[in-house]
Amino acid sequence: VLNYSIHQYPTINSTNDEAKVLLRQGANEGTVVLADRQTAGRGRWGRSWISGPGNLYCSIILKPQCTLLQAGQLSFVMAVSVGEAILPYLKSIHKLTYKWPNDLLINQQKVCGILIETESESGGLVDACIVGIGINLSSVPDNPTYPVTALNLHTEAQLALDDLFAALLEKINKKYQQWRQYGFEELREKWLERADSLGEMITVTIENKKKTGKFLGLNMSGGLLFLNENGNIDELMSVEVS
Ligand code: BTN
Repeated sequence: VLNYSIHQYPTINSTNDEAKVLLRQGANEGTVVLADRQTAGRGRWGRSWISGPGNLYCSIILKPQCTLLQAGQLSFVMAVSVGEAILPYLKSIHKLTYKWPNDLLINQQKVCGILIETESESGGLVDACIVGIGINLSSVPDNPTYPVTALNLHTEAQLALDDLFAALLEKINKKYQQWRQYGFEELREKWLERADSLGEMITVTIENKKKTGKFLGLNMSGGLLFLNENGNIDELMSVEVS
């Protein structure tokens, strides 16, 4: 069971960066950094994560003692955890989907982003993972590059940040235990049940080149199975899906 210890700040540069500082000071698994806003919130691909008040910004330190390849599965474990935390609050006509590898969309608009950073490996094992989660709860960031939304635009009643945070920690604890005890398979299936564009044509960017192909599923490491134009199946890890 994760023994959570929560460090809360009104404003911080990035909860992931603060979690790294705490980790170097010897912080245990289950250490959580929570902030009302961030001045240097980071997203994947070196993008910034706009972090004004009203939304959830947190980072959790995990020490799963796994290989780097297995750590890749954590993206999906975390996406499913966030998904299950918010689903009970969603109006039934609003559709939640998971976008590879770890975005959550409501009606095709991004509501949550996850940034997992791994700290040095020793003996082939990952020392620690910092799982950074940003959920747009009450405010829709001004973001011109892709469609975004906020959770409270899709709920029956306004959800409070504290309640969302509590639900999130509970689900993460549960799913993380499940993953460690029983492995990835069932969680992989859960993710696929809500996968965005599964079985459809998608465009991915690989080393600055765009390629179109069919999204066939996930492999056991969370790699994207991509049927390319030559009829071969690629297993993609570090690509961006547009
Ligand atoms: C993405 O979709 O590109 C990932 C966004 C991750 C944002 C969260 S907010 C809390 C944590 N701290 C950060 O600096 N980033 C993550």
